[in-house]
Amino acid sequence: MKILVVGSGGREHALVWKLAQSKPAHELYAAPGNPGISEHAECIDIKADDVTGMAKFAMAESINMAVVGPEIPLCLGITDILEEAGIDVFGPSYKAAQIEGSKAFSKQIMRKYGVPTAEFENFTNFENAVAYARSLGTDMWIKASGLAAGKGAIYAPNPDEAQKILKSLMIDSQFGESGHEVVIEEHMRGEEASIFALCDGKTYKLLVSSQDHKRAYDCDKGPNTGGMGAYAPAPVITKNILDKVENAILQPTLEGMASEGAAYKGLLYAGIMITNNGPKVVEYNCRFGDPETQAVLPLLDGDLAEILTACARGDISRIDFDVTEGYAMCVVIASGGYPGSYKKGLPVSGLEDVAAMKNVKAFHAGTISDGDVIKTSGGRVFGVTGWGSDFTTAMTRAYAAVEKITFKDAFNRNDIGSKALKHL
Ligand code: AMP
Ligand code: GLY
Repeated sequence: MKILVVGSGGREHALVWKLAQSKPAHELYAAPGNPGISEHAECIDIKADDVTGMAKFAMAESINMAVVGPEIPLCLGITDILEEAGIDVFGPSYKAAQIEGSKAFSKQIMRKYGVPTAEFENFTNFENAVAYARSLGTDMWIKASGLAAGKGAIYAPNPDEAQKILKSLMIDSQFGESGHEVVIEEHMRGEEASIFALCDGKTYKLLVSSQDHKRAYDCDKGPNTGGMGAYAPAPVITKNILDKVENAILQPTLEGMASEGAAYKGLLYAGIMITNNGPKVVEYNCRFGDPETQAVLPLLDGDLAEILTACARGDISRIDFDVTEGYAMCVVIASGGYPGSYKKGLPVSGLEDVAAMKNVKAFHAGTISDGDVIKTSGGRVFGVTGWGSDFTTAMTRAYAAVEKITFKDAFNRNDIGSKALKHL
């Protein structure tokens, strides 16, 4: 089979790395890909959100199956375009991708189908939004309904701050159109975890649970980022909690999506808060999480190409796979200044040392190659994953590999996994 992976980050590197282990071997392409991905796949210079360019390439190259990493092409409808051209796609349709593309839509689905989530209201009118925020009289979250590169959820400690945030989103267009509709929701307390469901439009199978670390610095300090590290499985997701997530959250959501004419196929990412009143949805994403995927996939004991193709074709129920016992942990190495502005083009050293280590993998997230030299090209530069039969081994391996990789002003969190240790 010819498989095209869309995207260029650490998540896509992990997907390609795992797809390269499938048997029989497939012909792998990635667009645009990155230097790490190019070890396993031919990289094609097409931007991930150039959905027409991607479709032209896929048709010209007779691609059989596409695996779409990022949310933007999915929310632009890449699945529908490729499927019309007869290509199997692991990823939701345009309509189903709105579960991430429109937080207002996602919250309405949850309300309509009784899925536990933070109390909320949606607004397109600034005055009404301010009046609601004032009526809450407490802290809250204000969210741009549309895509905002992971920056669209803002905490407001009180209604005065909420009004300022609402103005910047709805009047000053901080995130363009994306913030013209907002969700205002209750602040939930608890520990977060990520649940990945492989969906085929009718049913689903779960991958192992994981936990992201969204803040930039140790002890959950500093600004929100795309994710500074993750581990899997997340011990906070006990069997009892997982049953609740499946019965009260995933099943009604998938049934609801089907009833709305948006049957869900692809990866449904449920961001869960484990509150005193049980698990509640923080957000849905229409794709694999990054960096959670870099911790989840090393534990997958199964053929990823077979699994994703079965989802694309509507028959995941016939596929069996296992989860390797043990843990995996991914530590992100970021460029100084991230998530604000940062330098690019900094030469990286130490990757050969990591390549020689066992049970670790340095997934490239923001790199380019310049001749023989790997240079930085993004804020999150690597996601370095270690795995092993117990949590401490996975953690020690990940951090030993992180130590080897250096570039100017590189930084990483040193406390990835500390929450898991409290549970274990
Ligand atoms: P979102 O983009 O909706 O996933 O929000 C990003 C992050 O903000 C989440 O992972 C949470 O850490 C935090 N967050 C969002 N909404 C809430 C909420 N209602 N209560 C508490 N934390 C939240
Ligand atoms: N790690 C968070 C996300 O992928 O949205």
